[in-house]
Amino acid sequence: MHTDKFMKHIFSILTAVIPVISVAQQALFIPDTLVGTSINLTMHKDSVQFFPGQISYTYAFNANSFLGPTLILNQGDNVSLLVDNQIDDTTTVHWHGLHVPAMYDGGPHTPIFPGDTWNPVFTIMDHAATYWYHPHMHMKTAEQAIKGAAGLIIVRDAGEAALTLPRKYGVDDFPIIVQCQQWDSVNQVMPLGMQDSTLMVNGTIDPYLDVPAQVVRLRFLNASGERAFNFGFTGNMPFYQIASDGGLLNEPFLTTRVRLAPGERAEVLLDLSAMNGQTFYLMCYGSELPMGVQGGPTMPMPPGSPPMDSPLNGVDYNILQLNVVVPTADPVTTIPGILASNIPYLVSDADAYRTVKFTADSAMVMDGPFYFNDSTFNMMRIDYTIPLNSVEVWELINETMVAHPFHIHDVQFFVLNRNSILPGPEESGRKDVVLVLPGDTLRFITKFDDFADPMIPYMYHCHILMHEDDGMMGQFIVHPSAIGISETEIENQVSVYPNPVNGNLITVELAQSSSSTVLFELYDASGRLILSDQQVMESTKTAIDLSTVSPGIYVLRITSGSEIYAVNVLRQ
Ligand code: C2O
Ligand code: CU
Ligand code: CU
Repeated sequence: MHTDKFMKHIFSILTAVIPVISVAQQALFIPDTLVGTSINLTMHKDSVQFFPGQISYTYAFNANSFLGPTLILNQGDNVSLLVDNQIDDTTTVHWHGLHVPAMYDGGPHTPIFPGDTWNPVFTIMDHAATYWYHPHMHMKTAEQAIKGAAGLIIVRDAGEAALTLPRKYGVDDFPIIVQCQQWDSVNQVMPLGMQDSTLMVNGTIDPYLDVPAQVVRLRFLNASGERAFNFGFTGNMPFYQIASDGGLLNEPFLTTRVRLAPGERAEVLLDLSAMNGQTFYLMCYGSELPMGVQGGPTMPMPPGSPPMDSPLNGVDYNILQLNVVVPTADPVTTIPGILASNIPYLVSDADAYRTVKFTADSAMVMDGPFYFNDSTFNMMRIDYTIPLNSVEVWELINETMVAHPFHIHDVQFFVLNRNSILPGPEESGRKDVVLVLPGDTLRFITKFDDFADPMIPYMYHCHILMHEDDGMMGQFIVHPSAIGISETEIENQVSVYPNPVNGNLITVELAQSSSSTVLFELYDASGRLILSDQQVMESTKTAIDLSTVSPGIYVLRITSGSEIYAVNVLRQ
């Protein structure tokens, strides 16, 4: 291990024990903002000297050299985003937490090739809250996001605007993007490392922030690859949590902790009115995290396992020094009593129940790979076909020894219960990531509304990025016409073979044809129509000529009368 970094580890441990010796070296970097309805994002390669004299290669957006600008979007706006890929590698950009059509969600099926641009256009339907954007290339999410290709999204809406809340960005309303990094011997980030010990906030190591002596708002994002943070402040100072991942809570929740696993967000208010001149710290109370949570005490490992010990595991440490300074001209000094009225879906309205078990090759596995229902991610397999407007209860059962932050695209959900216990106020609002502890059974309810696409799936996955890249991910299609059709039924009604296709012909067999004219359409991974073939089927079986189609992953859409089927096809 590099000596400087070893000293840094020691330093981190010391600061954890005696906060006053912490020397804050750099002002917290506050990413610039992009506002309006036309947003340009250029993802590029860059470098940063996180350690003076040592060049670390990074990814970033626009003028930044690490991370990207904060997008400020308004509910109801029709937004056009132009993403330019200048990283010399294929990528995608996902709008984490936003409710957008599958083709604009930025999952692994919509790659942006090097030098290409991608132009999603969608209406902001989300509630005021803190969201984020990051790449989602299968097997490369960790590398690209941890190297810095990530940024914050702030959504505003009329309900939030009517409240007396701090919302002057960088003045009384601060982005707090927390990451913990591990470095290799030549000072490059190690996206899959579990010995992460360099904390950064908004890309700043050893940061301080001047905060005015009034009510201030902090928007936390845990953008780490694997570490969970049990945020609190020096001396258990109380604060209010006002928002979870996808919206304001019903009312401010007075607390001393907010635990965020990777991907999760929370907004908090601190009343600093009486603290002018004082200094305190944003901390992680890691000693309180249960075993099995990354960042909690390191578990005893079976012999031969890779090292998982970071000096930050299981200890309390400082993250950000906060210096209280004179108030601004027009300070917020009160905390509203009521914030929102979240109305969860009713279990009695549920159309479907699904169970997702978190599994591993054996009960002893602590470093993966982990699976959903014993299957590893397969781009070619649609795990669930969900009818548009389906209200569903998903039951997450963690049968592994480690905690996994479960994330689902497209929707915000409401936690119904965890081990039959109702969620606390902090988990009673809109969520898109939830930490499921070892042995937990957690149920949430959601509705798959507004957007259907028979071809492009949405993802659900563990937001520990190495678990995700390793295959702890699944995908679902929200289908416009699959009323009550399950994927097994589709399997029974259509078969496509051989798949993968080596030759030029693929055979499609329909269990029954409700109409003799059948339309076959082949779409590529970006949703482009590659081939269209309308046939009058004499029998239930026909062949489609793929000789003009280059190798790749496609979706074959079959329209037969009112029935529409979508099958993934691999052309070799
Ligand atoms: Cu934050 Cu599927 O991602
Ligand atoms: Cu997401
Ligand atoms: Cu996981």
